[in-house]
Amino acid sequence: MRVLITGGAGFIAFHLAKALQKRGDEVVLLDNFNDYYDPEIKRRNVADLQSSGYMPLHVVDILDRDSMEKVFEDTRPETVVHLAAWAGVRPSIEKPELYSAVNVTGTVNMLELAKKFSTGCFIFGSSSSVYGGNTKVPFSEDDPVDRPVSPYAATKRAGELLCHTYAHNFSMHITCLRFFTVYGPRQRPEMAIHKFARLMYDGKEIPVYGKGDSRRDYTYVEDIVSGIIGAVDANHPFEIVNLGESQTITLLEMITCLEEALEKKARLRFLPDQPGDMEVTYADISRARRALGYDPKTPFREGISRFAEWFKSNQSRTAGSC
Ligand SMILES: NC(=O)c1ccc[n+]([C@@H]2O[C@H](COP(=O)([O-])OP(=O)(O)OC[C@H]3O[C@@H](n4cnc5c(N)ncnc54)[C@H](O)[C@@H]3O)[C@@H](O)[C@H]2O)c1
Repeated sequence: MRVLITGGAGFIAFHLAKALQKRGDEVVLLDNFNDYYDPEIKRRNVADLQSSGYMPLHVVDILDRDSMEKVFEDTRPETVVHLAAWAGVRPSIEKPELYSAVNVTGTVNMLELAKKFSTGCFIFGSSSSVYGGNTKVPFSEDDPVDRPVSPYAATKRAGELLCHTYAHNFSMHITCLRFFTVYGPRQRPEMAIHKFARLMYDGKEIPVYGKGDSRRDYTYVEDIVSGIIGAVDANHPFEIVNLGESQTITLLEMITCLEEALEKKARLRFLPDQPGDMEVTYADISRARRALGYDPKTPFREGISRFAEWFKSNQSRTAGSC
């Protein structure tokens, strides 16, 4: 199967591309190498992928409709996994226009092209952030999601709604996957686990917003990849599906696990809560199990120790990247 991955130089895309390549799919990457974090990290991701086999790369912005159309003409993807986005909750509060352009208009561009070129399967990388300030846990796909607490979350929900519109009007097969805090080797450097690891190594203070008792459902990246591939293979007409581990860890527990895995001591600095942050994320994954055959396998301690091993052996490559 020929699969076009947008955001193909990013963290999740790296692991997805590798897994698809391993099972014999033809993978095409597309990315604009923006500077949300050091583009050099993205170049290394692509170089590492290309070193283990042929994998074409298009350096294109998803907002550039003409160039995107050319990519579709050349590639004729059977499946599109749309992961390109401005990620990150807090920066979206500072740059709502940018988030809205890339995450909403960019997604419309992708849907239009997938429609025009009769792409058989479209996967949209959504986010647990759509659950906003919901207090009923675990979060289920049938819960109301009309109260996002950050522009990022609002753009991801808008993307889901647009996906539904295209599935409904044009009989396109589309699955929206709500990823719950993804971690593992090559995690984005500004995400908490990676950022905290760097700060611990540099002997710097870790900023802890709130009391450290907020809870996250951390999902190991290989489990996320198995869910994405499950969605590609199931190719449902339209679904929205949570992908998490369905276990929650407090911020302070996460820091303790990281200290143990890295054999470093953390220095904490407690700061007030940040706007846009959620108290808890916790996935009900019964639909994912049923619809995608999803079966996450990586307990947090094991995932953190794999991350720590990668971090330690890539020290020089990740230094200064937060
Ligand atoms: N990592 C997580 O915990 C998490 C959680 C929920 C949702 N997601 C979503 O999953 C997807 C992948 O996340 P990630 O953590 O791998 O992020 P990432 O930033 O590593 O990957 C996204 C990639 O998209 C590219 N990109 C951004 N704007 C683009 C544009 N206009 N044109 C072309 N390429 C563009 C970036 O250069 C980057 O390489 C994103 O859509 C993100 O919102 C991630």
